[in-house]
Amino acid sequence: MVSASFVHERLVGSGAHHIYGSRCLVEMRRREGNVLKRVLVTGGAGFIGAHLVRKLLQLGYGVTVLDDLSSGKRENVPNAATFVEGSILDSGSVRQALADADACIHLAAVSSVERCKRQLTSSHAINQTGFLRIIEELTLSRSALPLVYASSAAVYGASQDLPLSEHGNCAPLSPYGADKLSCELHARAAYEVYGISTMGLRFFNVYGPGQDPASAYSGVIAKFAEGLKRGEEITIHGDGYQTRDFVYVDDVVGALVQAIGRWQTGASIINVCSGVETSINDLARIMIEETNARSGIRHVDGLLGEVRRSKGSVHALNAKLDYQCRTDLRTGLARLLQ
Ligand SMILES: NC(=O)c1ccc[n+]([C@@H]2O[C@H](COP(=O)([O-])OP(=O)(O)OC[C@H]3O[C@@H](n4cnc5c(N)ncnc54)[C@H](O)[C@@H]3O)[C@@H](O)[C@H]2O)c1
Repeated sequence: MVSASFVHERLVGSGAHHIYGSRCLVEMRRREGNVLKRVLVTGGAGFIGAHLVRKLLQLGYGVTVLDDLSSGKRENVPNAATFVEGSILDSGSVRQALADADACIHLAAVSSVERCKRQLTSSHAINQTGFLRIIEELTLSRSALPLVYASSAAVYGASQDLPLSEHGNCAPLSPYGADKLSCELHARAAYEVYGISTMGLRFFNVYGPGQDPASAYSGVIAKFAEGLKRGEEITIHGDGYQTRDFVYVDDVVGALVQAIGRWQTGASIINVCSGVETSINDLARIMIEETNARSGIRHVDGLLGEVRRSKGSVHALNAKLDYQCRTDLRTGLARLLQ
């Protein structure tokens, strides 16, 4: 008999869900008589979480969301998912949410770099201690669950050794980046001490529909899109030659789904990026073209501590996860701007 994980590997693992469609995967899983798996998504009411939960449900997974709605929205969680409103800091809520789970994707965080700077200890508690709470509850649970968690390109910080590779230097420039790096270190320690295996995905600059333009971390694309919609001038901090590696949210979701299917023992770290470097000036130009807007561009003072260049290595993503981000920037922007 073909196992569910085998089917998962064959369809999701090969990226074939793009070809066969999610219904086919669900049908095959039913035909094989396998029980559909339940995935706990912490932070499932947020930007990436909302896209992920929808995709998991489409693929036939049962989904539990644990979110305290501090920045996420209740309406982002479909009725088909079980919703536990609570904090990752609260062991009772984590235990309740983990109860029937076969895998955990941990996204909950204070994702605003600026908020982390302003509220140092409270955001550190969520971003780092919250991660430890998940690990701690996993050590107490009956079986080892695959744990995939969101790390960030912010761990690279000042490093300009492009393309940024998982084996390269990490020098975070923000408390947010420092906490994400610390989660990776704790993930390694959890494997050594408790045998808990994890996969940390370092997301680069994620964009797509549903991102809150009001959030300081929602990033430049959501802000430009909002400005263009209102017919406003685009504001660029600094000379605009700073670069970013933009990755479309559906590709990030694909990598997360792939990761729960490709989970392996150890404490792996993998970039989730496009491998393409785009300057903010080019981004603004493309977005103006895509919207046929007449907006001008205004340059203001650069931001303190801003990373100059960013471009990730896709090597581990391709080789270890057998995954590629397929959405090029123009296509992703066109979808977003629709
Ligand atoms: N968006 C990006 O470009 C990007 C880049 C790199 C890494 N990340 C990471 O990816 C993950 C998801 O990011 P996002 O953009 O969807 O952020 P988001 O802010 O939209 O979502 C985070 C979610 O976590 C929830 N949350 C916060 N504190 C919580 C707590 N104590 N208990 C339970 N839930 C809590 C929020 O309510 C929200 O729904 C985060 O870990 C973030 O750091 C995002």
